[in-house]
Amino acid sequence: MTSTVLVVDFGAQYAQLIARRVREAHVFSEIVPSSITADDVRAKAPSAIILSGGPKSVYEVPAPTLDPAIYDLGVPVLGICYGAQLMAQQLGGDVARTGAGEYGRTGLERHGASVLIDEWPETTSCWMSHGDAIVAAPAGFVVTARSPEAPVAVMEDAQRRLFAVQFHPEVAHTERGQELLENFLHHVAQIPATWTNTSIIEDQVAAIRAQVGEERVLCALSGGVDSAVAAALVTKAVGHQLTCVFVDTGLMRMNEGEQIEETFTRQFGVELIHVKAQDRFFDALAGVTDPERKRKIIGELFIREFETVARELGAGGDGPRFLVQGTLYPDVIESGSGHAANIKSHHNVGGLPEDLSFDLVEPLRSLFKDEVRHVGEELGLPGEIVWRQPFPGPGLAVRIVGEVTRERAEILRNADHVVVDEIKKAGLYRELWQSFAVLPAVRTVGVMGDGRTYAYPIVIRAVTSDDAMTADWARLPYDVIESIANRLIREVDGVNRVALDVTSKPPGTIEWE
Ligand code: XMP
Repeated sequence: MTSTVLVVDFGAQYAQLIARRVREAHVFSEIVPSSITADDVRAKAPSAIILSGGPKSVYEVPAPTLDPAIYDLGVPVLGICYGAQLMAQQLGGDVARTGAGEYGRTGLERHGASVLIDEWPETTSCWMSHGDAIVAAPAGFVVTARSPEAPVAVMEDAQRRLFAVQFHPEVAHTERGQELLENFLHHVAQIPATWTNTSIIEDQVAAIRAQVGEERVLCALSGGVDSAVAAALVTKAVGHQLTCVFVDTGLMRMNEGEQIEETFTRQFGVELIHVKAQDRFFDALAGVTDPERKRKIIGELFIREFETVARELGAGGDGPRFLVQGTLYPDVIESGSGHAANIKSHHNVGGLPEDLSFDLVEPLRSLFKDEVRHVGEELGLPGEIVWRQPFPGPGLAVRIVGEVTRERAEILRNADHVVVDEIKKAGLYRELWQSFAVLPAVRTVGVMGDGRTYAYPIVIRAVTSDDAMTADWARLPYDVIESIANRLIREVDGVNRVALDVTSKPPGTIEWE
């Protein structure tokens, strides 16, 4: 059975990062809300608990708290920042508003024998972010490190296996932070490092087999990473019961359809229905310029196309009963309750009619994006699919300002290929969150050879981001911009000018529509 570490979420994004660090130590982690009770914890039987930091002060009302009975379960607990202060306060120590907080890189001085940081030098640096400070540890704890403004920077009760650190071991700026977490997980809590790509695949394959039995399974492939990895897992589990559907909307990136056919039909030997629906999409989009209407038309038509295939296969009757979804762990956490993630709202199968009700197979719902990529690689998916940057459901349409026509989609597809190709050559593709071309709805005058041209500009859009909620425009090297621009004008018919988008998000969005 997989050992689990519960990461109790006290707000902000700290919990997700901790959960990922735990997994990097090859231990499965699950984020739970701070309202969790000791009974809930007992039912989950975790091997350890980590209390995250949070934006509040323990003195604020209301400040999130923790069922104190959790400390008595005999499960090792590590409190971080807010979690450390809460532990100190709840167990009878003293937390004070000293008026002197610490933010950023801070020196740490270790003293005495320690279970948690015994290997650390006398002085090191860590990353702090606190206003209040623990000024007296509860009875039973020894203090093993201090910083200028945190007299209790680390406290330990080895007997009860309760530990607390004022700094953030999960951030890279804390020099030996990961080592501390691994020490806590592997030595204090005695959890073996067995959560690996191989174990994830084995567990999921077994779970899929148990869920679907002999029934047929349907999966819509979008060209994106998530649906491809989900499909590859289902292939490994019950490949002969799986039918994949790829609806080509005419708004995909270059070679996306061929790549999917090559991988799933020839390499994996899966039944793949390739719906060539380009004409129907371009017909439906003719004359439409409003961004929201475009999205709606594409979303609805996609569902109709998918529904047609599903009905032909006999879904709802003796056809497929299960539908694969590439739901990821962040979708599940963000849905708040920790269960029943909403089906992704983009143009996939979210709006299928009731009589086609499927049971969902969601083999990625406990995984973060980077884990999905590694699992995909291990399953033998080509790097080109696995490392692909995110691509919006409505495809190139949200990058074509104004009317979406076959010709304009072709211009943008060619331009996008050039941008991505040069970004890859420069070794920047994985560093950037997204990098692509945009086609505005204007034409400008230019001169090429002896002739005057009147053609479209292409805008280069490249951003860095962690989660797409905020983004910064990427400072691409001038020589990369230059080679992109030269190739766009030379190779892409209909383009005579290149511009660079230097807008962050906010105020801009990543896509143009
Ligand atoms: P924006 O443009 O809002 O995009 O900054 C944030 C992220 O979401 C992607 N995106 C979409 N994805 N359906 C999707 O599946 C959509 O309609 C859609 N619109 C934007 C975008 O590529 C970026 O990663």
